[in-house]
Amino acid sequence: MKTGVPWKAITIMAVLNLTGFAALGAHAEGVKSLRGVQVDEPVFVEPIARPQNTRVNRQFRQQPPLVPHKTAAYQVDLKVNQCLTCHDWTNAGEKKAPTLSMTHYADREGRQLDRVAGTRWFCTQCHVPQVDAEPLVQNEFAPSSKR
Ligand code: HEC
Ligand code: HEC
Repeated sequence: MKTGVPWKAITIMAVLNLTGFAALGAHAEGVKSLRGVQVDEPVFVEPIARPQNTRVNRQFRQQPPLVPHKTAAYQVDLKVNQCLTCHDWTNAGEKKAPTLSMTHYADREGRQLDRVAGTRWFCTQCHVPQVDAEPLVQNEFAPSSKR
């Protein structure tokens, strides 16, 4: 087995590195960032909209109510659901949060469960923080009548 320093390999690597950097330098002027500015220029980013903390009416009777608080910090994944630490029927009273309605405890066969149904696990699939933002896509939706 050879144990000496592999000078030949090291030299080849050094040369390859140098040519690599040279190629990078040549291409740098042609690089365009997604935001359309030079990559080393600072970019002003709009602040994330703050959710309105007041409760707004639903636009149609079956609408999942909008969330009147921030949700970004609450983890929801396969094992953990932090929304339930306040909204599950076992905690809602002491956390002064609205309790999940019974539809959240019925599985798809209609059986009433003691724990939130799998079909209602990913809360933010249906409930989004309420923000008075410009619609991304224009539409002619009008709220259902209040009769
Ligand atoms: C720290 C406790 C807490 C956590 C965690 C929490 N909430 Fe809330 N939530 C509240 C409280 C309190 C209210 C009532 C606020 C009010 O009435 O102004 C509320 C209101 C709501 C409402 C409005 C219900 C209605 O009838 O209008 C929805 C929907 C909601 N939360 C969804 C969520 C979701 C989804 C998550 C997880 C991403 C979550 N919440 C996490 C405390 C919490
Ligand atoms: C598949 C859509 C869907 C998912 C997922 C879902 N919800 Fe709802 N949620 C609704 C709808 C629709 C309503 C209003 C009608 C009702 O109560 O069933 C509602 C109502 C609520 C209410 C108000 C209850 C009341 O009696 O006023 C709260 C609070 C709430 N959801 C929180 C949550 C939380 C927390 C999760 C996650 C554990 C969650 N929801 C998952 C659709 C959903």
